[in-house]
Amino acid sequence: MKKYIIIKKKIENFKKKFIEVEGDKSLSIRFVLLSALSGGKCSAKNLLKSEDVLNAINCLEKLGIRTIFKKKKTEIFGRGLFGLKFKKNLTLDAGNSGTTARLLCSLLIDSNFRIRITGDQSLKKRDMKRIINPLKKFGVFFKSRNGKLPLEIKGTKFPKPIKFTENLGSAQCKSAVMIAALKTKGITKLKCLPSRNHTELMFKNVLKLPIKIIKKNKYEVINIKGQSEFKPFSYQIPGDISSASFFIVLTLLSKNKILKIKNVNLNSSRAGVLKILKMMGGNIKVLNLKNYKGEKIGDILVKSTKKFKSINLSPRYNSSAIDEFLLIFLVACKSKGTSVFNNLGELNKKESKRLNWGIKILLQMGIKVKRIKNSGIKIWGQENLNLDKKIIIKNYLKDHRILMVCVIAGLTLGGNWKIYDHNCYKTSFPSFTKILKNLGARI
Ligand code: S3P
Repeated sequence: MKKYIIIKKKIENFKKKFIEVEGDKSLSIRFVLLSALSGGKCSAKNLLKSEDVLNAINCLEKLGIRTIFKKKKTEIFGRGLFGLKFKKNLTLDAGNSGTTARLLCSLLIDSNFRIRITGDQSLKKRDMKRIINPLKKFGVFFKSRNGKLPLEIKGTKFPKPIKFTENLGSAQCKSAVMIAALKTKGITKLKCLPSRNHTELMFKNVLKLPIKIIKKNKYEVINIKGQSEFKPFSYQIPGDISSASFFIVLTLLSKNKILKIKNVNLNSSRAGVLKILKMMGGNIKVLNLKNYKGEKIGDILVKSTKKFKSINLSPRYNSSAIDEFLLIFLVACKSKGTSVFNNLGELNKKESKRLNWGIKILLQMGIKVKRIKNSGIKIWGQENLNLDKKIIIKNYLKDHRILMVCVIAGLTLGGNWKIYDHNCYKTSFPSFTKILKNLGARI
């Protein structure tokens, strides 16, 4: 069996006018974890069934939470705020999912046994201190080597509310504190830098929990009142903008194409990629914008764009496009002039060191690129870029987004690509290759 993807040809005419991408990963994992703490049967339509989400479901199953997959919906049977079944010698494996590993810890802060959390080769390299430190303040015991997985966590009968300042701009960190706060008696005060706000929106609009959010300069102050049990809920998960972005860039960088991507989550804390690509000249329009439980949902209409402008991006856009930077770098490669991106250190804390990989891939493509101080990158664009090189991509810790970016690069900019770990896209976007093939790509 082939263990790599080969791309030798750019994509020709699209065989479809519109596509839909699968459910949002952040919302799917939050739905799964919060359902478990609810008072009964929750149901989701369009839940993403990628490896990351299935790993979250498997971890919860070990904690006594039942999930039923039906044709059109997924049902999860919550057992209340304090209803998880903790046992001796339990190991929970989050696979590749940083969101699962980090948020799961917050569900375990009242465990009376030590629970072991582990993950795959990539997840074992990622920093868990960012959640260990705040969760310790609730009264939780942790054992880990260098703040990495595998770790052991043992909770406390009486977790206490905390005050915490989150300075990384990490939604995972913020969400871990918010969920842990639910198990305490009192008010947790969380001050945080902006990051995706799905947990806040779910707390407020879906679970109807008493939270207060106040803007204070560059921070948000979130007050969460604990021990409010919440009712079971249902949720319809919109398409994932991170998955949609591969097809946005595929269309932008090809010739004479139009594509509509329907029903995508356009929450402004996530949709930075649209703003950035539009600033670079990308022909993108949003249609049919609606509000669903605080999330903005709409269709994206993309047209191929002939000329892109380079950009000197203000880091204030970073968090709202954090998973899309490698795609944005591809557009910078085809722009007129030199693009600069700064303060991207968090990219090297993802499933692989993505900033380093971005530079490596661009260099292999023959692009002039330089790392600059403050974890930045400078890219010298070539308006008429057309690759004819052989490019081999391997040993990238099976980072799903690296594989998908390289596939899009090959299909739009040319070259002869051989990309190993051929199926790691299933971590976040299992239908990625199927949608591409239906559009007419030869991969
Ligand atoms: C996520 C938050 C982001 C993002 C990740 C998913 C989430 O990480 O990169 O893919 O669902 O909360 P941060 O914790 O750095 O915000």
